[in-house]
Amino acid sequence: MEKKIAVKTENLCKSFGAVQAVRDVSLTVEEGQMQAIIGPNGAGKTTCMDLIVNKTPLSSGKVFLFGEDITGMKPYKIAKRGLNKCFQISQLFPALTCCQNVQIALIQKLGKTFGLRPVPKDYLRDECAAELARVGMEHLLDETAAYLSYGDQRRLEIAITLALEPKVLLLDEPTAGVARAEGYSIMDMVRRLNQEEGYTILFIEHDMNIVFNYSDIISVMDHGQLVASDTPARIKENEFVKQAYLGGAA
Ligand SMILES: Nc1ncnc2c1ncn2[C@@H]1O[C@H](COP(=O)(O)OP(=O)(O)OP(=O)(O)O)[C@@H](O)[C@H]1O
Ligand SMILES: [Mg+2]
Repeated sequence: MEKKIAVKTENLCKSFGAVQAVRDVSLTVEEGQMQAIIGPNGAGKTTCMDLIVNKTPLSSGKVFLFGEDITGMKPYKIAKRGLNKCFQISQLFPALTCCQNVQIALIQKLGKTFGLRPVPKDYLRDECAAELARVGMEHLLDETAAYLSYGDQRRLEIAITLALEPKVLLLDEPTAGVARAEGYSIMDMVRRLNQEEGYTILFIEHDMNIVFNYSDIISVMDHGQLVASDTPARIKENEFVKQAYLGGAA
């Protein structure tokens, strides 16, 4: 059976003044795939992801989600259609518990309003616990977000994003700033979400060990352009990648 295309961009371009951050990027992510975007600092990876979810408005080009043209669509509408970029730590509520952080996302998804009344503390507690279990954090239900390790904060961000029920999950450097072992543990969890729960995943990553261990397809960006998109085995043989990442060794 032919694989469905989850995300497709056509000639995506973005300029910030004179800086062409993203140039003519035509990227395809198949449904069920775990795809990495790699490239040097400033290559345009984050901008590209932000253009896909319209967090940053594009200069030109098109974005399709499961064949539907979502170019220019409001981010919350894109999210409703199943495409979500992971919250960043700065968007966690540090004084609230993990449970409450997830609760906010669930309330948002359900479109529930409490007016001026406070949200009951245990509202949707079981559902919050279930969401936290998906990222291996059920034991931290009542822990305050500010007291979590950096790695657990990253897991909590992912739990919040998953609570919005995406089909496609975009992760910008999910292992940045965490120790190597914890980085692998986060990626094991992400791979389980991909393999067992069927999420399509597009992630940006600098650690080449992670990239080559956890990707079905690797897309390489440089100076705003997509220079290659292929299987890890073939990307390993790519001249640009050899020069930039693998020490130029043949
Ligand atoms: N809001 C902005 N205003 C002006 N220039 C920007 C803005 N965002 C990004 N840029 C520029 O666009 C280019 C691409 O940046 P981007 O953050 O997408 O790179 P990146 O590949 O994610 O890099 P890194 O690996 O360091 O995260 C850079 O030259 C950056 O300085
Ligand atoms: Mg970036």
